[in-house]
Amino acid sequence: MVKHPMIGIVMGSDSDWPVMRFCAEMLKRFGIPYEAIVLSAHRTPDAALDYAACAQERGIKVLIGAAGGAAHLAGVLAAKSELPVLAVPMPSKHLQGLDSLLAMVQMPGGIPVATFAIGEAGAVNAALFAVAMLALNDKGLAKKLTDFRTSQTENVLSKTLTDLP
Ligand code: RP5
Repeated sequence: MVKHPMIGIVMGSDSDWPVMRFCAEMLKRFGIPYEAIVLSAHRTPDAALDYAACAQERGIKVLIGAAGGAAHLAGVLAAKSELPVLAVPMPSKHLQGLDSLLAMVQMPGGIPVATFAIGEAGAVNAALFAVAMLALNDKGLAKKLTDFRTSQTENVLSKTLTDLP
């Protein structure tokens, strides 16, 4: 486990990792120290609450909660921490993640979580959003984010019809 994580990725199950590894990989690309753990709002409620309550004093700046189905994990983290909480809805077996999305995005007023797209896009964007927040106080990181966006733009503009499937 990394010594001083700035981001805590919390997943409701290890079955969420195949999606959330895209979040972790993006954080790694920017050199952001993170930890990824499994804690469930309903299977390990006390541990999830304890983790959220202690996150800020451990130096964590942003929490990312990923869960599927009746996905209350991000809301539970936000209930116990004033850190920004980003929520990534996991694709689910029966409702393809629409259940997860609605559970996360419909937080009642007063305890916010910022909810991203279902699945891999949400996982990547939660990482990029966390990078953007950290970059507000870190010029080196801001430069890396600018370079990432520039290279993404150049990549799209360089595509020709023969590259397309
Ligand atoms: C949620 O239930 C987890 O976040 C996961 O997305 C979903 C299914 O979990 P498993 O039954 O695969 O452990 O709590």
